[in-house]
Amino acid sequence: MSIERLDLQDWQLNAAPDPAWQAALEDGAVLYCPNLCFALSSSEQHYLDPSLTNQKRKSIYIRGDSATLYGTDASANDQEGLLAMLTRYRSASMHLLTQMFPGYGPAMRPAGTSFRPRPTGTGEAALSWRKDDTRLHVDAFPSNPTRGLRILRVFSNVGTSARVWRVGESFEDMARRFVPNISAPLPGFAALIHSLGITKRKRSAYDHYMLHLHDRAKADLGYQRDCAQQRIEFAPASSWICFSDQVMHAAESGQYMIEQTIHLPRAALAYPEHSPLRILERMAGRELLPAAET
Ligand code: SIN
Ligand code: FE
Repeated sequence: MSIERLDLQDWQLNAAPDPAWQAALEDGAVLYCPNLCFALSSSEQHYLDPSLTNQKRKSIYIRGDSATLYGTDASANDQEGLLAMLTRYRSASMHLLTQMFPGYGPAMRPAGTSFRPRPTGTGEAALSWRKDDTRLHVDAFPSNPTRGLRILRVFSNVGTSARVWRVGESFEDMARRFVPNISAPLPGFAALIHSLGITKRKRSAYDHYMLHLHDRAKADLGYQRDCAQQRIEFAPASSWICFSDQVMHAAESGQYMIEQTIHLPRAALAYPEHSPLRILERMAGRELLPAAET
């Protein structure tokens, strides 16, 4: 569990990157940039309004590198403005990461950009413990197995109150606690749910363990209360970066955040032995992705 403070002030890095950033990031740190502000224009300020999301959604978002907006029934004019704001965030965050981590640059795939105007813990999160991101978890999604792609995320607090996270123990300590009680994947199950359209691609053994770790940790209220953890307040107008498939995180409070998710192929990692895949493979004593993908 570690939080590293970086004194970045601009989405354009005006110096050479420090290689220690990448080492810390891949070791499971949150890189907190208290002075890195994603400034909203005066016309964007009125998007600080939770009623812009349509009822089912916690966020307003774009996917990949596309320009289609989802999650809102706002007027055509506002949709255009929201799309411009999200596209600008995607460019700024991808540009920054390319400069901070030159080895990731060409490999990074934008996976989604979202604006979250609701207070944390409301909406879907209040209805389902699985969707409740106020509980400590690593990111893993039932319908969207990554097959080993890493989940790298950049967050910016665009509201006026702090966004408060809890950050938990290391991935390895967490996995040691829960993996022994997770059954191996059932033969044929991943192919079945893929053929039924429940998953977007076939769930690998790696995805199976990641999803169960997400669920086991969220379901265990004793663990949530007693595990080693640290509370951190991300100030208004600040930003932070982490591998959210590795860092145990819980969004306790806050409102108005913009976030970029990036999928990163493992080949771009400088310290693959620190990755969740390698940690889980060491524990399982076997490979968790098909040979062609390892
Ligand atoms: C998450 O758990 O990925 C959401 C983090 C946040 O809402 O700050
Ligand atoms: Fe999460």
